[in-house]
Amino acid sequence: MSGNFLALAQPGVQQLSPYVPGKPVDELARELDLDPASIVKLASNENPLGASPKALEAIRSALTELTRYPDGNGFALKSLLAECCGVELSQVTLGNGSNDILELVARAYLAPGLNAVFSEHAFAVYPIATQAVGADAHVVPAKDWGHDLPAMLAAIDANTRVVFIANPNNPTGTWFDAQALDDFLQDVPEHVLVVLDEAYIEYAEGSDLPDGLDFLAAYPNLLVSRTFSKAYGLASLRVGYGLSTAVVADVLNRVRQPFNVNSLALAGACAALQDEAYLAESRRLNEAGMGQLEAGFRELGLSWIPSKGNFICVDVGRVAAPVFQGLLREGVIVRPVANYGMPNHLRVTIGLPAENSRFLEALSKVLARG
Ligand SMILES: Cc1ncc(COP(=O)(O)O)c(C=O)c1O
Repeated sequence: MSGNFLALAQPGVQQLSPYVPGKPVDELARELDLDPASIVKLASNENPLGASPKALEAIRSALTELTRYPDGNGFALKSLLAECCGVELSQVTLGNGSNDILELVARAYLAPGLNAVFSEHAFAVYPIATQAVGADAHVVPAKDWGHDLPAMLAAIDANTRVVFIANPNNPTGTWFDAQALDDFLQDVPEHVLVVLDEAYIEYAEGSDLPDGLDFLAAYPNLLVSRTFSKAYGLASLRVGYGLSTAVVADVLNRVRQPFNVNSLALAGACAALQDEAYLAESRRLNEAGMGQLEAGFRELGLSWIPSKGNFICVDVGRVAAPVFQGLLREGVIVRPVANYGMPNHLRVTIGLPAENSRFLEALSKVLARG
């Protein structure tokens, strides 16, 4: 008799729902027999600019070394990050995307009987990483779609080991300021590791969002995670990083896969980090596109959640699933967020001006059909 390999999985894994990614362009093209080039994908918070030419050049040069393992310590990238971020090399952890950092934290610090605290409408990987290691999730109701930091503090108990907070948050785009972060960090018990997820922080420069790095020296229980997938335009390469005390970095290194960041990702990330013009253009495009979408929503009489990310959640004034389907038929892929407890919203990534226009036209058409 064969074993029931679902029932044999550890209880947390049995209950897991896998992460649902944005619909790939090729999949929609196959389903609707569309030319992939005609499809607009604004579903995964990717950078619409395409990769930095400098990163592409570095990746091309690295292609000659594909038979060798990458530098498992990521020395070149870690050194650059340490310099850029004003920390020691020993404080940097590289990840296969910042997603990897979140999972390393869960693997190292969570277990059955322990728990992680995070907000309602927070990034889907927090519950997945928590549940996958058999720990409990303390999900704290959101306030005005954003993190209710005092309520999150109150949800911490003796068995809490990790708090996940995102600034700005995905999918809501909401944020908190430096004072709120400082108040929070001051009151978090010392045994709790605070993971400050700054996947979109580069888009928020010049706003009232705090820079998590400014808090690292004062709070040894803080880990800041960042990524090359968004403003640095390298989502497909999978490279992100964590900044923490050297002790926490050492712990994460113990559970890290030996070669978790590949050589093309290491080369591309080093080049992207130094391409300031690309980053500036990413920001400029995002700010303009955000304005374009907000103006479009205003014209359509729709409300939205103000966002500091490269995406925005619009309330379509009805259950959003049929609107999402209608947009697909128009060749536009956005992200339904009912699984985040937001059934009337759609999350739209800021695209190029022409992509934003295509989306707004399609949305207007689909909504007019009723
Ligand atoms: C808030 C947040 N954190 C982390 C990630 C993970 O991104 P990556 O693994 O590509 O770095 C994402 C991706 O969408 C995100 O939205």
